[in-house]
Amino acid sequence: LESSAIFDLQLYMSEQGALVNGALARILDTQDEPTPILGAMTYSLMGGGKRIRPILCLAAARAVGGEPAAALPAALALEMIHTYSLIHDDLPALDDDALRRGQPTCHTRFDEPTAILAGDALLTLAFETLADAPGATKPADNYPDAGQWMQVVAIISKAVGYKGMIEGQMQDLDAEGKILSMEALETMHALKTGALIEASVHVGALLGNGAAEQIDALRSYARKIGLAFQVTDDMLNIKGDPDIMGKAVGTDRERRKNTYPTLLGLTKTERFAHCLVEAALQAVESFDNKAQPLRVLARYIVERNR
Ligand code: IPE
Ligand code: IPE
Ligand code: MG
Ligand code: MG
Repeated sequence: LESSAIFDLQLYMSEQGALVNGALARILDTQDEPTPILGAMTYSLMGGGKRIRPILCLAAARAVGGEPAAALPAALALEMIHTYSLIHDDLPALDDDALRRGQPTCHTRFDEPTAILAGDALLTLAFETLADAPGATKPADNYPDAGQWMQVVAIISKAVGYKGMIEGQMQDLDAEGKILSMEALETMHALKTGALIEASVHVGALLGNGAAEQIDALRSYARKIGLAFQVTDDMLNIKGDPDIMGKAVGTDRERRKNTYPTLLGLTKTERFAHCLVEAALQAVESFDNKAQPLRVLARYIVERNR
């Protein structure tokens, strides 16, 4: 697939997405009989989503010559954490959104307490999934060892914690109605969205047994596409089609959010996003064809319409 001249991204994403969805569904199924909280967790986790972070994680394992299957538990954990962050991001106390992934947000479909707790539960389940990964507690052939899994826990927890995604979310809320400098805006985006994307690629490369130089290059790639991802989200909030995106548009302006288009305008923002992609591609220049999915994903991140 990756060596063919024309790489079919749509096919690749639907195959990888199905793999991730199947594995996520199996984890939720093996919980005890469906309780209201499991119902809410399942509703949000299985209710669509592009699965970009898990797909990046698996693609990074592949890019370094590793076996994507070894990284699957991390890919699942990343999507659980991402979904939790969306449930909480949509709460009335944060962005107060009613639509997500083409359906009512968790607190709209259920209620606020349930949505808060469903987010908490998905965050916790992510770390349970890592702890239960093959090789994490007892050696398993061809799987990462306990030390690697602990490194993964360290990387992901730092990325989404109070110096990472949570700090970014705090800065985003604090900046409503103010005008940030370009530098402060970049920092906010790198934290609220970039950190989890960088962690996704980082742990994928680690679990694929990548060499230090490979991991450095991939992290640099991920920082570029992570920023490009949020910059594109900002643009879609202005010019996107809500039916395709499955979420509302115009909300950043309503809430007086700080975004790239508000500071630069749409034309310059689009140019900036494409520059980031070129820089990301340069970072993985020395990789062979196994990195082809990562290259195609980089372009997709700025060309997507959802
Ligand atoms: C949306 O993320 C929130 C941001 C960090 C910009 P995605 O665009 O990956 O959302 P889903 O997972 O596909 O719904
Ligand atoms: C979401 O950012 C970032 C996190 C959930 C950590 P936004 O608030 O800009 O994303 P959307 O537009 O609601 O998806
Ligand atoms: Mg937000
Ligand atoms: Mg939001």
